[in-house]
Amino acid sequence: MFDHDITATDKPMLYRDLAVALEALVAGETDAVANMANAAALIFEAIPDLNWAGFYRNVGGELVLGPFQGRAACIRIPFGMGVCGTAAATREVQRIDDVHAFPGHIACDAASNSELVVPIVRDGELVAVLDLDSPVTGRFDAEDEAGCVRLGKILSAAI
Ligand code: SME
Repeated sequence: MFDHDITATDKPMLYRDLAVALEALVAGETDAVANMANAAALIFEAIPDLNWAGFYRNVGGELVLGPFQGRAACIRIPFGMGVCGTAAATREVQRIDDVHAFPGHIACDAASNSELVVPIVRDGELVAVLDLDSPVTGRFDAEDEAGCVRLGKILSAAI
């Protein structure tokens, strides 16, 4: 059983605990699907106020849905489209306070109001994006962004 005791009382502690737990979960495992699946489960359970957490993978220059927690989501997203496609095309984190104000936002779950998307790059190639959605407008701040970038770096070697 994997029982990660994440009882952090502030965000830096939460993301430090999450990074330690994620390192332990992926240690010694080379299967990308297994590692993305466990990462999505860990993140969804540990980070408050999420309605979706998971991955879109770069499959031949198109984003294709990967392991996730939350409601069933759109399967294919072209680079440059929506929040995830913008993160993939620019390789820059997208931290969006109000997705309804984002041009081309793809609404997979009507409950989503804010979104954080972190590109995951390995050896100069975009491997995937980590996508977090929240029903809370303005849910993600700079500490969430820094914490999730750290998680993305751990995952870049494991997926
Ligand atoms: N909202 C995303 C699509 C993916 S779902 O949020 C799971 C976007 O605009 O790219």
